[in-house]
Amino acid sequence: MAAKKLLILPGDGIGVEVMTQVRRIIDWMAKKRKIEFDISEGLLGGAAYDVHGTPYPTQTLEAALAADAVLLGAVGGPKWDDLPFDKKPERGLLGIRKDMGLFANLRPATVLDALADASTLKHDVVAGLDIMILRELTGGLYFGEPRGIETLADGSRKGFNTLVYTTPEIVRIGRVAFELARKRNKKLCSVDKANVLECTVLWREEMIKLQKEEFPDVELTHMYVDNAAMQLVRNPKQFDVMVTENMFGDILSDCAAMLTGSLGMLPSASLGAADAEGRRKALYEPVHGSAPDIAGKDMANPLATILSFAMCLRYSFNMDAEAEMIETAVKTVLKGGLRTADIMQAGKAKVSTTVMGEAVVRELDKIS
Ligand code: NAI
Ligand code: MG
Repeated sequence: MAAKKLLILPGDGIGVEVMTQVRRIIDWMAKKRKIEFDISEGLLGGAAYDVHGTPYPTQTLEAALAADAVLLGAVGGPKWDDLPFDKKPERGLLGIRKDMGLFANLRPATVLDALADASTLKHDVVAGLDIMILRELTGGLYFGEPRGIETLADGSRKGFNTLVYTTPEIVRIGRVAFELARKRNKKLCSVDKANVLECTVLWREEMIKLQKEEFPDVELTHMYVDNAAMQLVRNPKQFDVMVTENMFGDILSDCAAMLTGSLGMLPSASLGAADAEGRRKALYEPVHGSAPDIAGKDMANPLATILSFAMCLRYSFNMDAEAEMIETAVKTVLKGGLRTADIMQAGKAKVSTTVMGEAVVRELDKIS
């Protein structure tokens, strides 16, 4: 089999530090599991601006399009705050997501036993939580036309955005959702606002059609987005996979993220269209940013990025066993009492980014 082409973009701030730890895991996989990776590293964000005068160099885009998967740290920081909008590090991130056509954003919200008390919700409500929110990422209200602010004849002003989805856009995100559900517990909840928004009436109709025609083995339910927000906080464990429109997903996935209580633990994946062999363009990154307040201090939690690499193994390379090895190693390290500062609890041992990364590798050694 051909080597797995991995592009690594550490980015800025703690992105660089957490990626150093991921490199240890990748090296371990290459050595101990005999997985052949073809790894290259590139610049994105402020780091790219400092070298090339642009946050999004052409060679980074070309490398991303040629890769089987891209692994990203985080971008941004105060050093680049005064740059014009098109030079800001965040433009690099938006650019690469757009040019790779990443329309499906996977945001798992998982509560590991060792951290079940980190949530602001009651232990019983969140303990054992393991849900996946799939957000449509390139359409919907954030991209719909027409949009803008206009001055009306009477001098008052009008601001407007448009919620638009075409059937191909709904079907392609729907397929990713059903495939995910099929790989997990065969339960999909489609979230819409079909009682008020025509666009989401179409969304619901297409989901129903897709279920009938291609995924009869997956149970499909529907929920209005306002109720979904309530249910996520009241009883999140009723869900398994949820799929929804761009803005709804932005809000619901952040809400679900906080059920877990720790930004430093949250991975994500963004997928694009499938090629003839069924392979999708893919980018994996932690949910958190570059954390300038702790950058360079060896304090950042590397687990979100390590778990993003586990998602990469699962969704880009179909290596479920290896993904699970990483997830198990992370759980065991936490159970053993090691904590970075962001997830510190009374009675636990506070460790650095480096020590946390090393501990995960040691666990991998034990379970392999
Ligand atoms: P942030 O996620 O960088 O930090 C928020 C808070 O969480 C900070 O107190 C930080 O120290 C803490 N934190 C975040 N990740 C952590 C980790 N792994 N371990 C321990 N603590 C962690 O968000 P913020 O402060 O809003 O943005 C900082 C910069 O990052 C900005 O330039 C922003 O534009 C950028 N950003 C980039 C993102 C990306 O690259 N995907 C996403 C969000 C923000
Ligand atoms: Mg958000």
